[in-house]
Amino acid sequence: MKQQHVDIHKVITTLSCALDLVGVDEIRHGKRVAVIARAIALHLNWPEPECLSILYAGMLHDCGVSKIHEHRQLTETLEWNGAEGHCIRGAAYLSACQPLAHLSTEIRYHHTRWETLLKTPIDPHTRLRANLLFLADRIDVLQAPFLNNSQILAEYPAIITRIKSLSGILFAPELVDAFSEIANVEAFWLAMEPEYLDEDLRHIGRDIATSLIDIATLKELARLFSRVVDAKSPYTDEHSHRVAQIARQLAVDFGIEDCQLDQIEIAGLLHDIGKLRVSEDIIDKPGGLTSDERATMHRHSYDTYRILQRVFDDSKIPLWAGFHHETLIGDGYPFKNSNKELDIECRIIAVADIFQALAQERPYRRTMSLEYIIDNLQARVVSGHLDSKVVAKLTENAELYYRLAVA
Ligand SMILES: [Fe+2]
Ligand SMILES: [Fe+2]
Ligand SMILES: [Fe+2]
Repeated sequence: MKQQHVDIHKVITTLSCALDLVGVDEIRHGKRVAVIARAIALHLNWPEPECLSILYAGMLHDCGVSKIHEHRQLTETLEWNGAEGHCIRGAAYLSACQPLAHLSTEIRYHHTRWETLLKTPIDPHTRLRANLLFLADRIDVLQAPFLNNSQILAEYPAIITRIKSLSGILFAPELVDAFSEIANVEAFWLAMEPEYLDEDLRHIGRDIATSLIDIATLKELARLFSRVVDAKSPYTDEHSHRVAQIARQLAVDFGIEDCQLDQIEIAGLLHDIGKLRVSEDIIDKPGGLTSDERATMHRHSYDTYRILQRVFDDSKIPLWAGFHHETLIGDGYPFKNSNKELDIECRIIAVADIFQALAQERPYRRTMSLEYIIDNLQARVVSGHLDSKVVAKLTENAELYYRLAVA
């Protein structure tokens, strides 16, 4: 496998698509916030690296939001009492992710009023950046209802007036002034349309110097996104992280080359990233799923595959992650791949996923004992779903794997 270094712009732009999926029908909030914040920063003549980093902060600003219900509350009201929770969570995730830790404080305060921020002991520059994110975020909330047609062209003067009325209260006056100066033209608002937005982001990526990140940094970013996915439900707490650890250990036991272990771990961390689109009502449902709910659930590994393909276009990570619900006899989903299309790495991740899930409580069942789990995996080998060698390897060292799954 060739790919060891990936462009940071591509990683953030693409993985943030997954965060935006939490909006379900409204899937470009983060990107619009990013582009608005950058446009204001450019107008204020911030240095180019600052404009770029506010773009990334904009794309990641809601990384503390995993649940669809919370996303709705945040995008339906201008100020929502419960807004602080996702700011605290997002800041914690970012501060644990070394390459993005510098964005943590501004994410922490991206729903704090300017008048409150002035009394908050943070450095003035971070204060302004946090408030720029808040401003861009609220502009997007005000414009979102009018984005599906040209109605925004009739509505934008009222949005500018509303934002100006909040100057000095919610937002820093200098930011509001800059916004009013650039937003008074149709072009500002029309650029928010999905195809133009994506095109503009691609152009920004093309125009900046390529900044490649190594596999260790990539793993940190993957860990960040795995936290967002696992926070979807209390039942999936740490699931992706543990699947990644189990898969890595199985790969070691199979003598897979060292240089591939990090990639297997990344595939494990991101295997359920497509689940961000699935409502927590389905994930947490205690009973069986309806056919519609099952259909929604069954698309998650396809979304995983497509998202990862955009980031890792020269790697097998998208296959290893995207095939985790395929089976050897070809009755899995979403490709119905079978035996010969499933590498050992795919088989390892499929076993790691089921093993960890069985060791964890689910809304419809309690945790299972190790003995029961091994029997269950064996039954899946007999039925032709799981690879016998992978399950045998795990069984040889069952206690160790069980600790990786639940300890
Ligand atoms: Fe937010
Ligand atoms: Fe937001
Ligand atoms: Fe899955």
